[in-house]
Amino acid sequence: MPYSSIASSMNIRATNDSDRLLGVIFEYMTKITVETDIKKMVMNLADLGKELVYADRCSVWLHNPEERSLWTVGGHGVQKISIPEDSGFAGHTVQTGAELNIQDAYKDERFNPTVDKETGYRTVSVLCIPFHNAEGKIIGAFQAINKLGGNKQFTAHDLDVLKIASNFTGKSLEAFILRNELVETQKEIIVTMGEIGESRSQETGFHVKRVAKYSFLLACLLGIPESEALKFKYASPMHDIGKVAIPDSILLKPGKLTEEEFNLMKQHTTIGHNVFKKSNRELLQIAAIIANEHHERWDGKGYPAGKKGEDIHIYGRITAVADVFDALGSDRVYKKAWPLEKITSYMTDERGKQFDPRLVDLFLENLDQFISIRDEFVDGSDE
Ligand code: C2E
Ligand code: SIN
Ligand code: SIN
Ligand code: SIN
Ligand code: FE
Ligand code: FE
Repeated sequence: MPYSSIASSMNIRATNDSDRLLGVIFEYMTKITVETDIKKMVMNLADLGKELVYADRCSVWLHNPEERSLWTVGGHGVQKISIPEDSGFAGHTVQTGAELNIQDAYKDERFNPTVDKETGYRTVSVLCIPFHNAEGKIIGAFQAINKLGGNKQFTAHDLDVLKIASNFTGKSLEAFILRNELVETQKEIIVTMGEIGESRSQETGFHVKRVAKYSFLLACLLGIPESEALKFKYASPMHDIGKVAIPDSILLKPGKLTEEEFNLMKQHTTIGHNVFKKSNRELLQIAAIIANEHHERWDGKGYPAGKKGEDIHIYGRITAVADVFDALGSDRVYKKAWPLEKITSYMTDERGKQFDPRLVDLFLENLDQFISIRDEFVDGSDE
């Protein structure tokens, strides 16, 4: 939000003080909007509050409705402390929306001295302001504690000014909470579903984990930024999810598949693709691509679409290398594991045929790193 709209909404008068305040706001706005570590972000918000109103300390409380509690996400001199949701000034503010300007905490029955007891600090004056999510719901409280200088009391103007920090806190934390919950939810769904696929096809233990790790390694070696490569890694365990729809008589057949059976088996790619393609979630969209394209071949002779070369998404090309390297080195109901030299000579032969030549080169040049992953996740060992 532009600072001018914050300033006007807060009725800051055109004084030297407002010049100083705008300076402080500018400085912190930049720091806070680029921060991706929640602890550092909250500490920046606390520093902002402290400078805005000359408080000794500031702290940020978040409401946890499921646990009916409030907890300190961060701030000056606070560990992670949890109190009942209706307790203390923060609880009062979160429950009622009230903005508090307290002169002497210990003379107020709403005060919860838990934090003082745990930290050995002595709270006297307190400002406490609620902050909201985009829907206007209160999600926490911002506190400034102990005014420095003067008569050690916060003014009505301090309360107004602190709303700037509080407002920022609501916006930043909401963005942060949403981002994290989304990623956590997506990861959970994907790992769960990947495990279902794995158990159906009886591919032993660590197949999806190893393929995810090989894929991540190849993506990094190729120079794909780590943040992107990580999303790819989280989506990778889904590549064979479509196998859940393949009948046991085919999936678990000890011998070679007939042409008809293999045609059915090939549908595991499009089935997986159809499961995910309707989702707007980023990780599931990546999963849709991987499921669809991990059996395409560089020379165009793969399935389901017969895409060729760079028309195949890079994630499909990478997964193809990772998946086949792992499948060849593993026992399957239909085959025994191959020795390493046979695998590397197969990968070399298929350079530019089944596989993207660049990826085979990276794989061979960094073979030791792939072997380390393989040795770390040996089938049959404990997870
Ligand atoms: P999968 O077992 O995970 O194998 C993945 C890919 O690794 C295969 O894709 C293939 O490219 C490669 N691969 C695995 N084993 C061998 C091998 O012995 N020789 C060679 N040259 N490549 C191998 P593909 O062929 O598209 O198969 C997809 C899936 O279909 C396999 O996944 C497996 O679940 C099933 N499948 C393929 N062939 C047979 C078979 O003869 N019998 C049974 N029961 N299932 C098969
Ligand atoms: C509270 O009563 O909200 C806690 C006050 C403090 O942090 O000292
Ligand atoms: C997973 O996301 O659990 C698979 C990759 C890994 O083992 O870290
Ligand atoms: C990438 O997606 O960053 C790699 C592009 C490519 O190799 O096709
Ligand atoms: Fe597959
Ligand atoms: Fe696979």
